[in-house]
Amino acid sequence: MTEVQIAVLTSQHRDCILKSYEEVYSSKEEVQAFYGRFLENGWALGSWKNGELVGILTWAPREAVTHGLAEIIDFWVKPGERRKGIGAKLLDTALNRMQQYYKRFGAALRKVMLFTGATERYRAARTLYEKRGFRVVVKIPRNALDNPDGEELLYVLRVRT
Ligand SMILES: CC(C)(COP(=O)(O)OP(=O)(O)OC[C@H]1O[C@@H](n2cnc3c(N)ncnc32)[C@H](O)[C@@H]1OP(=O)(O)O)[C@@H](O)C(=O)NCCC(=O)NCCS
Repeated sequence: MTEVQIAVLTSQHRDCILKSYEEVYSSKEEVQAFYGRFLENGWALGSWKNGELVGILTWAPREAVTHGLAEIIDFWVKPGERRKGIGAKLLDTALNRMQQYYKRFGAALRKVMLFTGATERYRAARTLYEKRGFRVVVKIPRNALDNPDGEELLYVLRVRT
């Protein structure tokens, strides 16, 4: 079985990121503008298989690190590579790295939040989040934000320190 490596994405991986998102965003500039800060700050993790980027997780601290709150923004595994443990590995590595990041600033990670869909499409993600201890704290009605396909859920993980 080919080994999957998880690594922090940096500015050197800009082209891979651009390629992964070329169909999602309207232009290269838009992708660069959005993902630049994750790459510059070490807030993006990638999973690699045979030199190919097969999964991504991006996160960011919410305001000052002293608040202890981080947000997971983007999380996906390439369809053909799902259900092989890659997503779980990405999530666990990210939670670990977040804790290290907060420690570096003399703070502690207390909570991790994320928004995800309530529809069938996001069942896999919800199952994984719930397995790791994330809980739904609020439901956001269809169309209240950018969610025309259905309700969104705000999940929060309380991190044990
Ligand atoms: C969510 C996602 C990243 C998970 O990646 P993955 O590599 O397939 O996940 P794993 O193989 O590590 O699975 C971890 C656990 O998640 C759950 N899970 C994964 N796929 C599932 C599915 N299709 N149905 C139900 N549970 C599922 C299982 O509990 C699984 O553990 P198990 O295999 O021991 O039963 C992937 O399904 C994906 O990219 N989904 C589309 C994008 C998305 O919804 N992103 C989240 C947006 S917030």
